[in-house]
Amino acid sequence: MTKNPDFDEINEAKACMDNIYDQADPGPYFRELQKLGYVIPNEAKPVFQKLISQMKLQRDGSLNVLDLGCSYGINSAILKHDLSMSKLYRHWGQKRAESETLKENVEYHKQYFAALDRPEDIKVIGLDVAKNAVSYAEDIGLLDSGLTCNLETQPVPASAKGDLEAVDLVTSTGCVGYITEKSFDHLLPTITHGRPPWIANFVLRMFPYDAIEETLSHWGYVTEKYEGQTYIQREFASSKEQDQVLERLIGEGIDPKGKETEGELLAEFYLSRPKADAADVPIERLFAA
Ligand SMILES: C[S@@+](CC[C@H](N)C(=O)[O-])C[C@H]1O[C@@H](n2cnc3c(N)ncnc32)[C@H](O)[C@@H]1O
Repeated sequence: MTKNPDFDEINEAKACMDNIYDQADPGPYFRELQKLGYVIPNEAKPVFQKLISQMKLQRDGSLNVLDLGCSYGINSAILKHDLSMSKLYRHWGQKRAESETLKENVEYHKQYFAALDRPEDIKVIGLDVAKNAVSYAEDIGLLDSGLTCNLETQPVPASAKGDLEAVDLVTSTGCVGYITEKSFDHLLPTITHGRPPWIANFVLRMFPYDAIEETLSHWGYVTEKYEGQTYIQREFASSKEQDQVLERLIGEGIDPKGKETEGELLAEFYLSRPKADAADVPIERLFAA
């Protein structure tokens, strides 16, 4: 068994944002992340779109996506409504009346998203430990259903099993590191109950992926990294954060020169698929087409 990397220790190199993840209103989340140029959902968008279009060739009807660490439904908004982070920052950056209640706020955003086109026919289940974020995303209609749980420490709730068994594609941006192979260990028996989904994770370069890859392999998955590609997650919050991350990367044997040295945290993309699917169309061919 691959040694379980100490993600808690690795996370210490990164600025802590826990205070913005679970507010009743997503304003603080968007304001803080906009300041840091957080763009990974945008970077991930064409990759997820490619996977969705490929999977739609094989599976009937609307595709069921499970977004891990879904927060306020950001990947869902971007994919369902063909939005971008800059549009979402603009939207949530609007000045609203100070007297506005949460109920009024929810109603306003619900109507905004309901009026947008929905070019992508997908259903999104969002999973996150942040209860307020998940219920907000459900209330404004960005999530078709939300699941608040911590699969690092608990099994999949029995009430969620039906929905999760129908998942075709698992996505995540900015979440691996908070979740480890433990979450996948808990998730896999349920999501592979029917036809196994594809699993698509954007992962900061400082988080080793081998333990997750090994866990997924026990369920018949082959994991491929999209070699030679990096994706901007966000700018460093401070030079202290940058120094700590550079030190961490060098300690892991990863060369940050010309990459994180330029001022941004970078992610890589890992795609895990059932063996036969991976053999059929290797990752390079998938994205070349
Ligand atoms: C950097 S944010 C990314 C949010 C969103 N995916 C995005 O890219 O905008 C990390 C998210 O992971 C969530 N998270 C932290 N620990 C988690 C866990 N154990 N299980 C699920 N989500 C978790 C946080 O609540 C937060 O919403």
